[in-house]
Amino acid sequence: MGVIHPDITKAQTLPSNFYHDEEIYRQLITKFHTEWSFIGMESTISNGTVLPVLIGDIPMLMTKENGIIRCVSNVCTHRGMILCDEQQQTSTITCPYHGRTFSLCGKMKQMPKFDQVDNFPSESDNLPHANVVNWHGLIFASLDLEASFEDYFSAIEDRMSFVDFEKLDRQEKMAREHEISANWMLYVDNYLEGFHIPYVHKGLNSVIDYKNYETEIFAGAVLQVGYAVNGEECFDIPQWHQDSGKSIAAYYWWIFPNLMLNFYPWGLSINVVIPQGVNSTKVIYHGLVSDSKKFGKGAGGDLDTVEYEDQWIVESCQKGMRSVLYNRGRYSPTMERGVHHFHRLLTD
Ligand code: FES
Ligand SMILES: [Fe+2]
Repeated sequence: MGVIHPDITKAQTLPSNFYHDEEIYRQLITKFHTEWSFIGMESTISNGTVLPVLIGDIPMLMTKENGIIRCVSNVCTHRGMILCDEQQQTSTITCPYHGRTFSLCGKMKQMPKFDQVDNFPSESDNLPHANVVNWHGLIFASLDLEASFEDYFSAIEDRMSFVDFEKLDRQEKMAREHEISANWMLYVDNYLEGFHIPYVHKGLNSVIDYKNYETEIFAGAVLQVGYAVNGEECFDIPQWHQDSGKSIAAYYWWIFPNLMLNFYPWGLSINVVIPQGVNSTKVIYHGLVSDSKKFGKGAGGDLDTVEYEDQWIVESCQKGMRSVLYNRGRYSPTMERGVHHFHRLLTD
């Protein structure tokens, strides 16, 4: 039996040390390496761009050259210097330490004072690269070069097939970055249940139908469906779709381990949860609008307020995890299936 009992009615939640133990943090972050990490958007990267990104805790660079987007290691193959700390426009990546240069595809081009070095350059002097997929303009990378993206994304692709991704337009004014003093898993736990909505989000609670809130479990994802209360903004879903005729206000997708795709009638918001230490997390937001007339209404209306309400919760829970008087809780079998699934994926 793993840490988390497969039967939710018998299971206990994650032990509290999962949220503050350095060694457990380090072990769990390696799970990111072979999963798919969202690293950016096609629309924000032009040819000749070099942009630092992360796959879990691994420093990487997203690059674009001749229209091809790649993801290569951000660590110099000489003595391990980080090559690039901020976005650059360039045709060559130059190490700031001893001047080794690389092309944007990661090939080592030049190295000063290395003329007499035997068998140089060899393959290991090039920057290792990740597997990259462009899904409707969203760029994903994995260190597993064999990883199948179709398996990973098929549930979302099917369910959201009525969304016109071409129309989604990223809005710079909607971009946010938040630093949160809590473990990244607390942020995910909180996202994965609508249980807290009436207690924590009074505004949101007035526009969604709490009684009908649904959670669906998929292999590497959880979908929460929020229904609109009468008259509030909802999707116009075509007849051929399984959700046709329903008043859906939001599809909240979480994809293991750290990506949230929130579909609203006005478009899409994205949260990327970046672990930065046992009790430090950065959350990066993007907003993409397809129908500006609907923007600002319904469940996807006042996103900043909802965000601050959630941050207060997770920072407070982080303090709770440190108490010697707390270790594990139990799950609500109807309201916390998503949290239970996440904890099982983490500990299996
Ligand atoms: S560490 Fe990069 S050139 Fe030496
Ligand atoms: Fe919330």
